Amino acid sequence: MIDMSVALGPVSLRSPLVAASGTVGSVVDFAGVGALEAYGAAVAKSVSGTAWSGNPAPRLANTGAGMLNAIGIQNPGVTAWVEEVGPHLVDLPVPVWGSAVGTTVAEYAEVARALATTNIDAVEINLSCPNLAGETIWALDADATGSVVRAVRAAVDKPIGAKLSPNAQDIVAVAGAALSAGADWLVLTNTITGAAIDIETRRPLLTMTKGGYSGPPLKPIALRCVLEVRAAFPTVPIIGCGGVRSGSDVVEYLLAGASGVAIGTAHFERPRVGRTVLRQLRAYCNRHGVDRVEELIGAMKPW
Ligand SMILES: Cc1cc2nc3c(=O)[nH]c(=O)nc-3n(C[C@H](O)[C@H](O)[C@H](O)COP(=O)(O)O)c2cc1C
Repeated sequence: MIDMSVALGPVSLRSPLVAASGTVGSVVDFAGVGALEAYGAAVAKSVSGTAWSGNPAPRLANTGAGMLNAIGIQNPGVTAWVEEVGPHLVDLPVPVWGSAVGTTVAEYAEVARALATTNIDAVEINLSCPNLAGETIWALDADATGSVVRAVRAAVDKPIGAKLSPNAQDIVAVAGAALSAGADWLVLTNTITGAAIDIETRRPLLTMTKGGYSGPPLKPIALRCVLEVRAAFPTVPIIGCGGVRSGSDVVEYLLAGASGVAIGTAHFERPRVGRTVLRQLRAYCNRHGVDRVEELIGAMKPW
């Protein structure tokens, strides 16, 4: 029997798989369609201080390789979320993490504080959404990232993770700021900005023109971020995220130094993909004589 559990700073996950925010709804709504038992944790859609209606459609596009989205964090606001989703978080077959987003440092802290009053096990700080009209990505800037993480750290007692952006020019500097400000782990990464045009209508596929690009083409980029951050901070817990849809993708992220590996876009094609991915990960471990999946973390061999 292979031990699939991994340590992520102060948290222990029964499986290295994490369901990525924005791809499993509030987690409660995903319970009927997804395979939640395959995951170590599932992250709910990001929530802001007030209700956000999101961007006008079309806000999702298939680019052939990968997916573009400009949802704009449509959500009911944290007060409604706590009232409506909060009570249903108790009986789920997976630990749930809340995800906080905001346009000010104070909003992030307020949202995190409210989320922490529910049965969530941790707060993920979404510093990297590329789809907020008129707003820049917090995680492009080390100081801005540090301010948000510090405020959330002061606001909640639960473990916190900081979700960073592959658009950052210096991911190591931003990661360092998040860690000094008290993040327990880093999520590498959110989507990268992209665009696509319909050549018949000559209009962008998205009304917002640009969106967040996710799916398999993101994997080498996010993996590079994991490698860079791991090299700078060898003991920091990392969740790799970007383009995962198979057990081999998970093994790659683990070898690069991630302790957890998140699945996002793949849920839209196959909601129960986590089950298959976990089975493939087990098969890899069996083939390679790996008794504990933790043995794979950072085990990439140099040339
Ligand atoms: C439709 C959609 C909505 C998303 N919404 C959120 C969100 O609310 N909060 C967040 O932190 N990330 C959000 N993400 C980003 C994913 O959690 C993930 O970081 C990203 O898609 C890369 O992983 P993937 O290639 O496996 O999808 C969203 C992604 C998609 C495709």
